[in-house]
Amino acid sequence: MFLKHLECSACGLKHEWPRLQNLCRSCHKPLLAIVDLAAATRTLTRETLATREKSLWRYREMLPLPGGVQPVSLGEGGTPLLRAPKFADDIDLWIKDESLNPAQSFKARGMSVAVSMAKYLGATKLAAPSAGNAGGALAAYAARAGLEAHIFMPRDTPHANIIECRELGANVTLIDGLITDCGAELTRRKEKEGWFDMSTLKEPYRVEGKKTLGYELAEQCNWQLPDVILYPAGGGTGLIGMWKAFDEMDALGWIGKKRPRMFAVQASGCAPIVRAFEAGKKTAAEFPDAQTIASGLRVPKAIGDFLMLNILRQSKGGAIAVDDEEMIRVTREVGSKEGLFVCPEGAACFAALKSLQRAGKITPGERVVIFNTSSGIKYLERYQQ
Ligand SMILES: Cc1ncc(COP(=O)(O)O)c(C=O)c1O
Ligand SMILES: [Zn+2]
Repeated sequence: MFLKHLECSACGLKHEWPRLQNLCRSCHKPLLAIVDLAAATRTLTRETLATREKSLWRYREMLPLPGGVQPVSLGEGGTPLLRAPKFADDIDLWIKDESLNPAQSFKARGMSVAVSMAKYLGATKLAAPSAGNAGGALAAYAARAGLEAHIFMPRDTPHANIIECRELGANVTLIDGLITDCGAELTRRKEKEGWFDMSTLKEPYRVEGKKTLGYELAEQCNWQLPDVILYPAGGGTGLIGMWKAFDEMDALGWIGKKRPRMFAVQASGCAPIVRAFEAGKKTAAEFPDAQTIASGLRVPKAIGDFLMLNILRQSKGGAIAVDDEEMIRVTREVGSKEGLFVCPEGAACFAALKSLQRAGKITPGERVVIFNTSSGIKYLERYQQ
């Protein structure tokens, strides 16, 4: 294992890794894992990767968890990168289909790594607020690890997410409110209950699991990153994780300096990052009355807002909002043209692609990758209306 220490993403303060911890002890911002890359590449090279297992643990040296410790795994990662030739025939469009992960979403990546580390460091009761899919993934990996899962979800979370968490043995609390209210309830109770807080970016390792999106993408694109990435952003772990992976791979000499233009896609009814990006702000104000069928995008306030905004600007990408009606309409267009029943969050990226093309921000011939972060099957009631 080549984890050196944790570093605050805001003030840079170093933290020793071998204990359970959440945010920076000084400024209360997210901690990120610093890996000894030179040491890691003694055994992990682009060539040795070819011989390894398909799961995200193929990048083991870049991930936390001491060697010899068995990861908590359900076969996460290794998802297909599919060409989408019909949706937009003038660009080179690809879909990274994350619905094929355990519990049918990309949240499995973060939870496999974070639950592995939480268990290793001695946690027994894991808790998280969830818009839906993170809860399902936490429930699955906690069950696999033999740990308790306590999940707080908005009452109107898609049925599939709620049922899934319960059937995976988690303790589910439904809250009349948004994910931020769920988080507040968890914070109120966690000390007394002895829960370890697994909220997005409030522990250091979910983002390490999510960074494998970036490693996998580079590997599948033969180490040439695409021109543009469209990512449906709520808390932003995937965006932040991928960017971290690109920097690590650059330092390893696996890729060059070129970075994709990163676009955060949000829903018009909950677009804090879009508003902040357009206003030139460094952080995002809480979005009032957040509403959207894309439950994963119903995150009115994200602790990693400043990291997302920085990445969008550094990459010369941007942030774009999509209406719910457009997500529903585009789902069928993608389904009938490409054969994938995408989730509303994935559909939002396809709708965003059209707007960006119209605005001349994506030009013919460019290579674009869209992340379909879950399956439409989890949102059936949203498509019945
Ligand atoms: C399907 C789906 N897509 C996208 C997101 C947003 O992910 P993140 O919070 O990492 O930005 C979520 C989060 O719940 C989700 O469930
Ligand atoms: Zn700090």
